[in-house]
Amino acid sequence: MFEWVNTLRRVPPNVLVVGSANTDIVAKVPRLPTEGESLRGNSLSIVFGGKGANQAVALARIGARVEFISAVGGDYYGRLMKNNFKREGILTSAVRMVRGETSGTALIFVDEGGRNSIVVIPGANHRLLPEDMVRDENHFVGKDIYLTQLELLPETVEVGLVLAKKNGLVTIVDAGPPRNISDKVFPYIDLISPNETETEFLVGIKPITKKDYRRCAGFLLKKGVRAVVLKLGAKGCYYADDTQEVYVPGFKIKPVDTTAAGDAFTAGLAFAWGKASLEEVLLFANSAGALACMKFGAQPSMPYLDEVKSFLNSIRKSLE
Ligand code: RIB
Repeated sequence: MFEWVNTLRRVPPNVLVVGSANTDIVAKVPRLPTEGESLRGNSLSIVFGGKGANQAVALARIGARVEFISAVGGDYYGRLMKNNFKREGILTSAVRMVRGETSGTALIFVDEGGRNSIVVIPGANHRLLPEDMVRDENHFVGKDIYLTQLELLPETVEVGLVLAKKNGLVTIVDAGPPRNISDKVFPYIDLISPNETETEFLVGIKPITKKDYRRCAGFLLKKGVRAVVLKLGAKGCYYADDTQEVYVPGFKIKPVDTTAAGDAFTAGLAFAWGKASLEEVLLFANSAGALACMKFGAQPSMPYLDEVKSFLNSIRKSLE
């Protein structure tokens, strides 16, 4: 089991990530505040985040070759973020610094059970325009996988997906944060991966039972995507395409901070996609997601390949 991970270390997938980059300002709180409430927080931290950047960093840490198309502000945080991508081994020639614009920022509360609530101010992320994607088409050439999310302008996401298919890439969409996807975009998606909230937003059904999973995936397949992976948090994940379905339960862990666990999961999925059996791909993604829950912060919690491998080794016994 998992021998393919060593093969991928030697011949890593080439992934183009197109997405957001944020500075996360995180308050640890005893519990999430309610409307009108003034709570005393426990601590404040500033860490690197943003769905696109988290996934790019996670992919680089587990061993993919990663290029990132993004936009950061022409400010202190923009410079920090771009330098950080380079430190993580990510190709950054298509990361723009937008003069006069602030970097994307997320204000996050994390409670003692690791649950969060997030407000995102897009800043420079919304200055990455469809014409920028057209200008960057040469960056699509030679890549295997195209990974994007919904934290950019919808028209930028749309043009990116069209160009990715035109250039023969396998397209993976992390459906976060919850945003409408135009009907004409679905057929450009090979694999879509929404979490429970995003699934309910897109489909109108809360995925609670296996029957719900099937109905939710069926809805998205009918829209024209080729495969669906529902991220079900502690319950694991559910895969479906036109011919098969696979459910892989989650691991029993004590979450410290669930922020970006979905990003680690989708990065794991993109890394392993098409390289192993579906069960192993989903287990790999589940492990990356679980590990991200066990550390604080978005990018600080993205796991390295060795961590995923030892996590998989530790659970291997229970699987055989
Ligand atoms: O998925 C987690 C991310 O969502 C955070 O890092 C925050 O920046 C928001 O984009």
